[in-house]
Amino acid sequence: MDLIDAWDQSREVHGEFNDFGLPHRSIRQACLEGRLVGEGGGNLLVVLDDGQRVGTVSWHGVMYGPNPESRAWNIGISLIPEVRGRGLGGEVQRQLAERLFNTTAANRVEASTDVDNVAEQRALEKAGFVREGVQHGSQWRAGAWHDLVTYAITRDRRRASRGSGAAASPRHG
Ligand SMILES: CC(C)(COP(=O)(O)OP(=O)(O)OC[C@H]1O[C@@H](n2cnc3c(N)ncnc32)[C@H](O)[C@@H]1OP(=O)(O)O)[C@@H](O)C(=O)NCCC(=O)NCCS
Repeated sequence: MDLIDAWDQSREVHGEFNDFGLPHRSIRQACLEGRLVGEGGGNLLVVLDDGQRVGTVSWHGVMYGPNPESRAWNIGISLIPEVRGRGLGGEVQRQLAERLFNTTAANRVEASTDVDNVAEQRALEKAGFVREGVQHGSQWRAGAWHDLVTYAITRDRRRASRGSGAAASPRHG
């Protein structure tokens, strides 16, 4: 938990696209309050096969109608700088979407990122997400409004991409 708290307070780890200037919220406190993994969303540590802890992923519900069936998951990711650009971002988000499809009834997993965050857009594409469009002026960050681009994958599409063997594979090392 101390590691995640340290990451949360490091702009280098967050990256410019997660710099919202909000007060730090302790992961230990989130754990105590039962906010780490719950009905409405969650947070997980990204751990490599050799045990190295390299980042976090999160998800929260987005309602597209008042009924429970209309809840989609919106995911987020942050990897430490040392492991970026090795194919992990795509693979981790592919695995997170897979986990959410396997453990919940949701039909849609989505992610939004800054139009300038090319690495995240590419990672999402490699994870099988489809680019849906730009939400103009949707995010206030670092003293300005920013355009976000939304990507999504649906249950059917994930089955199709699995069938064609189009899943991303990580490049370690
Ligand atoms: C965004 C992030 C998750 C991507 O993960 P990653 O492991 O670095 O990404 P991958 O290695 O899977 O893929 C990155 C792709 O983007 C490309 N890329 C990276 N930086 C780029 C840049 N500045 N311009 C163009 N392409 C870039 C890489 O070449 C790669 O594409 P390729 O496989 O076709 O060569 C990771 O960099 C990160 O945690 N960044 C900080 C936090 C963040 O921005 N989170 C998302 C906020 S919404």
